Amino acid sequence: MTSQPQFLSVNLPIPLVTNSDASEQQELIRLRQENEQLRRELATYQQHQLEWQQLESARFRLAAIVDSSNDAIISKTLDGIIVSWNASAERIYGYQAEEILGKHITLLIPDNRLDEEPKIIERLKRGECIDHFETVRKRKDGTLIDISLTISPVKDREGNIIGASKIARDISAQQAILRDRQHAEAKLQQRTQDLEQALQELKRTQMQMIQAEKLSGLGQLVAGVAHEINNPVNFIYGNLTHTNDYIQDLLRLLHLYQQHYPTPHPDIQQATDTIELEFLTEDLQKLLRSMQVGVHRIQGIVASLRNFSRMDEAEMKEVNIHDGIDSTLVILQHRLKAKPNSPQIDVIKHYGKLPLVECYTGQLNQVFMNILCNAIDALEDGFQPSNSQTELQPAPVITIRTELLHHDRVRIAISDNGRGIPEHVKKHLFNPFFTTKPIGKGTGLGMSISYEIIHKKHHGSLTCLSALGQGTEFVIEIPIHQTL
Ligand SMILES: Nc1ncnc2c1ncn2[C@@H]1O[C@H](COP(=O)(O)OP(=O)(O)O)[C@@H](O)[C@H]1O
Ligand SMILES: [Mg+2]
Repeated sequence: MTSQPQFLSVNLPIPLVTNSDASEQQELIRLRQENEQLRRELATYQQHQLEWQQLESARFRLAAIVDSSNDAIISKTLDGIIVSWNASAERIYGYQAEEILGKHITLLIPDNRLDEEPKIIERLKRGECIDHFETVRKRKDGTLIDISLTISPVKDREGNIIGASKIARDISAQQAILRDRQHAEAKLQQRTQDLEQALQELKRTQMQMIQAEKLSGLGQLVAGVAHEINNPVNFIYGNLTHTNDYIQDLLRLLHLYQQHYPTPHPDIQQATDTIELEFLTEDLQKLLRSMQVGVHRIQGIVASLRNFSRMDEAEMKEVNIHDGIDSTLVILQHRLKAKPNSPQIDVIKHYGKLPLVECYTGQLNQVFMNILCNAIDALEDGFQPSNSQTELQPAPVITIRTELLHHDRVRIAISDNGRGIPEHVKKHLFNPFFTTKPIGKGTGLGMSISYEIIHKKHHGSLTCLSALGQGTEFVIEIPIHQTL
């Protein structure tokens, strides 16, 4: 307010004399009018000056507010040229007002976010505001900063949009806390998952240990019994040959007596009739043959039991897989026979030519046993006695097929023509303790243990092919040699 123009406000006296010349009179009127005009202009000017002062102090107040704000307050033209920059903008972005004013706003935007600016301008031109848009901006030193942007269009008197004012709030600290929290949550989730997995693993191991313990106990029992039976059976078998020889000798001697003494003493004749000697001699030989067959069979069973119960054998051995399957079938013989409520189950074998296979015999036999038992269960379960007379029900059959694959793997497929496995059961088939059988009948361990034995112990695969109503096939594939 240094040099205000000074206007005179003087009321000039109007002379009473009327004989002055007309031009003077007119000049006086003009001066008066001019004076009046000047007075009005002065009033308007003073009014403007007052408004200007008010505006100025409002501007100062606003500037003080803007400068004391913790948020960066920036304004720019619609072309993106920065036209105002407050103290917090200096602090947040690191640029002094002198160095940034007149520069383009993209100076603050990281390269990977440059596409945001045209979208923002587009919205501003439509008169829209942008509220708390969370994004990332770049400081002078190149470091990135998380900010929340609120941008409003700036309009001129006529309402044309001429630029934008933006408030940028530094949310780095909040974002860092959020990230830390998310990180901690993810870590916690991971740890929970790890623990759950460890628990599952523990349960599985525990179950395996229990089962292995049971099996090895059973194996030892079976091996012991087989061993104990083996001695006396060999005993009988060995003596049967002698018995046969002696009986043949005695019969020959009897024959000689009959030849040389055709008319024996009446007591001898009577005893001969009583014991029906002719029938006896004939039957005695049949009897001996049948005893021999029986003993032979016992020997076979004992061999199977011993073969099957090789649970305790810790090392791998090269074995004939077919022997293992056959021993398992011998042990299951009683379950394959016809019973009052179910017909006989036929076993069809298509054995290929297999080399010896390196494996843990006892464990592999356990797998055959588990699969065959399940097949028998399914066949018994699927059989309805009421339908037994009708032709519709196919005879229950288990088919075992073996073959050599690419000279280095064997494939053993065991299938049944039972009820098949529905999709929802198949999903859980190999899970420990999963069973669809009533309590007491199923443990749900057979398939999970078999899976472990084939996959982990023999580096092979055990898969199940089945559809409801179409039977089931389990396929085992294992390498001939275990390269460890
Ligand atoms: N051959 C099969 N036919 C139909 N279902 C089968 C067959 N084999 C296995 N399953 C299904 O898989 C389940 C799990 O088998 P497993 O682990 O041996 O346990 P368990 O025999 O004690 O139930 C069985 O309860 C049965 O539902
Ligand atoms: Mg089972």
